[in-house]
Amino acid sequence: CGIVGYIGTQIAPDILISGLEKLEYRGYDSAGLATIFEDELHCVRAKGKLHNLRAKIEQNHHPAQIGIGHTRWATHGKPEEHNAHPHLDMARRVAVVQNGIIENYRELREDLKTKGHEFVSDTDTEVIPHLIAELLTTTSESDSPLLEAVQKAVQRLRGAYAIAVICADYPDEMVIAREQAPLVIGFGQGEFFCASDTPALIAHTRAVLPLENGEIAKLTPLGVEVYNQSGDRVKKTPRTLDWNPVVVEKQGFRHFMLKEIYEQPGVVRTCLEAYLDQDWHAGQNSETSPIHLNLSPTLTENLENIQILACGTSWHAALVGKYLLEQLVGIPTSVQYASEFRYAPAPITPHTLTIGVTQSGETADTLAALDLEKRRRGNLETKFQPHLLGITNRPESTLGQMVDEVIDTHAGIEIGVAATKTFIAQLIGFYCLSLDLAYQRKTLSEERIEEILDNLRYLPAQIELILESQERYIEELAHDFAETQDFIFVGRGINFPIALEGALKLKEISYIHAEGYPAGEMKHGPIALLDNKVPVVSIAMPGCVYEKVLSNAQEAKARDARLIGVTAMNDTEANDTFDNLLPVPEVEELISPLVTVIPLQLLSYHIAARRGLDVDQPRNLAKSVTVE
Ligand code: G6P
Repeated sequence: CGIVGYIGTQIAPDILISGLEKLEYRGYDSAGLATIFEDELHCVRAKGKLHNLRAKIEQNHHPAQIGIGHTRWATHGKPEEHNAHPHLDMARRVAVVQNGIIENYRELREDLKTKGHEFVSDTDTEVIPHLIAELLTTTSESDSPLLEAVQKAVQRLRGAYAIAVICADYPDEMVIAREQAPLVIGFGQGEFFCASDTPALIAHTRAVLPLENGEIAKLTPLGVEVYNQSGDRVKKTPRTLDWNPVVVEKQGFRHFMLKEIYEQPGVVRTCLEAYLDQDWHAGQNSETSPIHLNLSPTLTENLENIQILACGTSWHAALVGKYLLEQLVGIPTSVQYASEFRYAPAPITPHTLTIGVTQSGETADTLAALDLEKRRRGNLETKFQPHLLGITNRPESTLGQMVDEVIDTHAGIEIGVAATKTFIAQLIGFYCLSLDLAYQRKTLSEERIEEILDNLRYLPAQIELILESQERYIEELAHDFAETQDFIFVGRGINFPIALEGALKLKEISYIHAEGYPAGEMKHGPIALLDNKVPVVSIAMPGCVYEKVLSNAQEAKARDARLIGVTAMNDTEANDTFDNLLPVPEVEELISPLVTVIPLQLLSYHIAARRGLDVDQPRNLAKSVTVE
């Protein structure tokens, strides 16, 4: 979910709505605003996308100068208007927006019910305004009753959350609090903002202060006061954001996702330019690595193990990373779902690098898993000390602040909820890391490293070629799947994660059931699913598993499945096996994931677009999942 808040001299509803637009990637199943005007609280909420809320506000516009807003990704309670934020207390004086989950809400609700509180939503959040209203009856004598009531309230909340609170009895202040969910304060001239993420602030100010866990702040038109967990005032200086407002436009593309698919050659180019030494040649300057990631030696020295923590598409990138780190560098590498690791962490191994991969830099599970690693290793002897590396396109995110070092993948912000350019950029991050380690540990010869680097340099042009030569055909092909209900994607070796990613993309945006399997596993169960209604997409690139994948494809063909092959352009043998081909330039197997994923992205895109679905904001999903 995304939250925004404003206090100042401008018209709050306008600022809040434009802030929410920038946060819609965090959820979009309902939205709402609460403002204070003439000492009354005004709350407007609407189910569905932000334009529904905007339409309601236009009918009911007033020039309030303080307010809070929310765009929701449902956790507790269906995406209906009565569950939309802000939530109010019974007297409709206190309004709260929240991002996160209040774990002990049932207990709090029961307790408040015995005190006469009645609840009207199914959400966990609604307990907060009731609790604050209850506590306000005890703090009225204090210098700052609302602040004190919120301080007392958060002491009773368990979970991970960020909240913003206003109260009609104190129309010149807003109180905000953070515990394990992002919240940033923006400093203007006589006006102050808060938001879940900086894109909502950048149009108004560059001076920002991210709140830390346990901190509470009071915002008034005169300034900002920040308090720590113990209630002591802390002095903090805002920092200046050094990036320009991102141009978020479709630039003629029908959807952001398609635009971002087309941005991939540029993203790969930028990332390679940032890290590869153009003048390096094998055997000439063997003192320095050809890859300049600028990681401190302590991070990778004596390394014996690597564990990678991620979710979703980033988890797929991590699987390719594991292949590279194990096959090129020989370091045992495990890949864990962050959400699983949190409650069943792997045994602690010595000299271990932990890598967090995340496109948003804010995924709650990934951050919590990294935090667990940091805490459980923190007090141990040197060889068990935590070494944390982030791979992300958002180095300024919470992840960026949490890890020792970051590989910035230079993909910029991605708008389409289904990750495309950020995925390919994460892959490039792993290629750079693996080749750098292979150089340092001499697990590959300099000649071989140079060869791989040269091949990587051809990639942008090769991706361009796929986009130019294949998109039309894939768009046509998508027509054939108007009625299809199931898809299978298979690959082996380094392309197995691409089969998973192809299936995930299709599920996310077209709502078609799809599964990715290692091709060799089909015969151990999934093959029972096949008939002439289930297309099978095989990734069959030249390399050590090529023949094996073709045989696995034949096994599917014998069960009447329609076969689609992602194959090398000059592969004639593939013609006889597959019903349809999605040809990509012939590249060596090691770097083939960087090309094979492209036609799969286009295929999902066109199937979803053809079905008339909301490709950029598919149902039930969010770009940044800041709850567990
Ligand atoms: C959400 C997004 C996915 C993404 C996953 C992990 O579910 O919809 O596209 O892969 O989170 O996100 P992260 O930001 O950690 O890469």
